[in-house]
Amino acid sequence: MASRIFLVLTALIGVIACQPQKEEINFPKTDLSKAALIPKPVETIPTHSAFGLANNTMILTSPIDPKFEQVGHFLAEKIKFKTGLNIDVNAADGDNTIKRYIFINQSDSLELNTPESYQLHIEGDSILLNAKTAAGAFRGIQTLRQLIPEKSNDTLTDYALWPIPSGKIIDAPRFEYRGAMLDVARHFFTVDEIKKYIDLLAYYKYNVLHLHLTDDQGWRIEIKSWPKLTEIGGKTEVGGGEGGFFTQEDYKELIAYAAERHITVIPEIDMPGHTNAASLSYPFLNGNGKKLKPYTGTRVGFSTFDARKDTVYAFLDDVIREVSEMTPGPYVHIGGDESHVTKKLDYIHFVEKVEKIVEKHGKLMIGWNEIAQADINASTVIQLWNEPHNALKAASSGSKIILSPAKKTYLDMKYDSISEYGLDWAGLIPVDIAYNWNPETYVETLPKENILGIEAPLWSETISNSAELEYLAFPRAIGYAELGWSSEENRNWEDYRKRLAQQVPYLKHMEVNYYPSKLIDWE
Ligand code: ACM
Repeated sequence: MASRIFLVLTALIGVIACQPQKEEINFPKTDLSKAALIPKPVETIPTHSAFGLANNTMILTSPIDPKFEQVGHFLAEKIKFKTGLNIDVNAADGDNTIKRYIFINQSDSLELNTPESYQLHIEGDSILLNAKTAAGAFRGIQTLRQLIPEKSNDTLTDYALWPIPSGKIIDAPRFEYRGAMLDVARHFFTVDEIKKYIDLLAYYKYNVLHLHLTDDQGWRIEIKSWPKLTEIGGKTEVGGGEGGFFTQEDYKELIAYAAERHITVIPEIDMPGHTNAASLSYPFLNGNGKKLKPYTGTRVGFSTFDARKDTVYAFLDDVIREVSEMTPGPYVHIGGDESHVTKKLDYIHFVEKVEKIVEKHGKLMIGWNEIAQADINASTVIQLWNEPHNALKAASSGSKIILSPAKKTYLDMKYDSISEYGLDWAGLIPVDIAYNWNPETYVETLPKENILGIEAPLWSETISNSAELEYLAFPRAIGYAELGWSSEENRNWEDYRKRLAQQVPYLKHMEVNYYPSKLIDWE
């Protein structure tokens, strides 16, 4: 421990000793508290000057944890993308040209009371970012990215300089789970399309991507012990397109990409309903007694596994084992929704058997609220989408709840009557309705301690590419980011809609096809 402290001190003293003469720059008055940050931080204390980001800035990272250096490189890459500047990370700085430092520091300060908490101290010639973990540092650099102005100020110095407003930001998430779900089963999305979504989610401090990998219309994840799942089940999608699937290598690539952004991937294998593609591939799985054919429509609730066959559980043991082996995160999602043709006792038997399989493979189970009809363990997490009474039952026996009420969080609901994509069975969800609700009081009698967080699901019956995905997800996903991260006292629709309007340069730079809702005075 002592040697670690020594290392950090040496690094810091090195920084201070290397500082050349201070360069006095007369920044115009700036106000950190007016920055259009989303999600809004816990506390922002402006000091009305600025840090000048320029090509004489260097990023230094705590030597204690190599993951901090990765965060430093990520920041350098994003600074390059936004400003064109080439900023070194932990380079030897023998020459005297480096004038300002961004130090990303591992700190055990007690003020950093969650793994994702961070503090930013922005001063004239240094920025100090303190975080307990690399995940906290990663959230902190998203704030920093948002503080960099779009255009350099070329009048203050004889070189281009991006003034970052000075002051202190103290920040921590409201909920530990802030997720987005993408349905890649109704329509398939490519690895590159999902990477772009991950990039956008990371910018707004999401930490979970839930992939709905299987449904009646397609099976999208290679399972080596049961190859027909993708050879047959991967070839269909809604509307009759060619479908597709992720090889195990593709899936691992996505997980690694998400992990670099401190986002956990949660795989969902939906069962016992929503399983037409699986049963079509291996007909012994089928429990509905009807002849199987490929399904490319959008009805739900007609398929089921046979919950009373040992061979079905042997199959599921292989599937869950392979998925668990590829997934470093703690959770496997087993779906469990809308199993309308599974008899109730069979359904309960099924969920209880599958929970044991998930646990055997070292994972915690998540399921949609229907699974709370079974006698589930307190470690199993319930995702509430339509029936609060099931979530309440699970909470009363200790389970944590993810809030995804369809009426509020379903990104596939249309914004309004003129929305081009989306459905409306749970109602229209304009940008203000999506933002203006409180997860802690949505289900009045659900204790706060049982809420793990929130998730915004995007079902893909009506969308099949990035532009269509983005039309439904943006800007609403930005509001859910604030709902998941910012405290209730810091959330205010009028203030939020102004900050949202100022996201346009970022969204344009990322070529995001957002829905230009009339509720926002877009800039
Ligand atoms: C669901 O919308 N069927 C979870």
